[in-house]
Amino acid sequence: PTPGTIYEAIGEEKLNELVDHFYKYVSEHPDLIPIFPDDLTETRRKQKQFLTQFFGGPPLYIQEHGHPMLRARHLPFTITPSRRDAWLFCMDRALTDAEIEEPYRTAMLDRLTMTANHMMNTPEDEK
Ligand code: HEM
Repeated sequence: PTPGTIYEAIGEEKLNELVDHFYKYVSEHPDLIPIFPDDLTETRRKQKQFLTQFFGGPPLYIQEHGHPMLRARHLPFTITPSRRDAWLFCMDRALTDAEIEEPYRTAMLDRLTMTANHMMNTPEDEK
């Protein structure tokens, strides 16, 4: 991994722990349950690959799936501002559970917030 990246600082184990905690919260969130598959095994595996490269680690997602085209991949799902908030709320709790310390915690949440904003595709009142 490239020195000085978030991935390098937190390590593979914590990154994977973060994603495990995250999908535990997603699977319990009333706003998110309706759009996620019941079995999150494959979703969890892909998200570990994606976030590894997103935070500067090896390009695991691209190697297996090609260019992420994240916004396009999210278009089949109704993503409103409240679902974005729910996603970020789950991630915030997962960062705490994985004991990811500052300054990484804030840096990660800032980047994830920017991407989450970009994933919104439906205004609240069209849900
Ligand atoms: C896949 C929802 C934000 C990364 C998915 C799936 C849903 C979803 C329903 C499909 C799961 C499946 O079928 O396996 C949401 C919602 C978001 C959000 C409601 C709120 C804004 C994000 C963000 C990122 C992200 C911020 C990255 C930083 C991914 C990845 C996949 C995925 C990598 C797997 C794509 C694939 O199938 O290869 N998301 N997402 N999502 N999401 Fe999100």
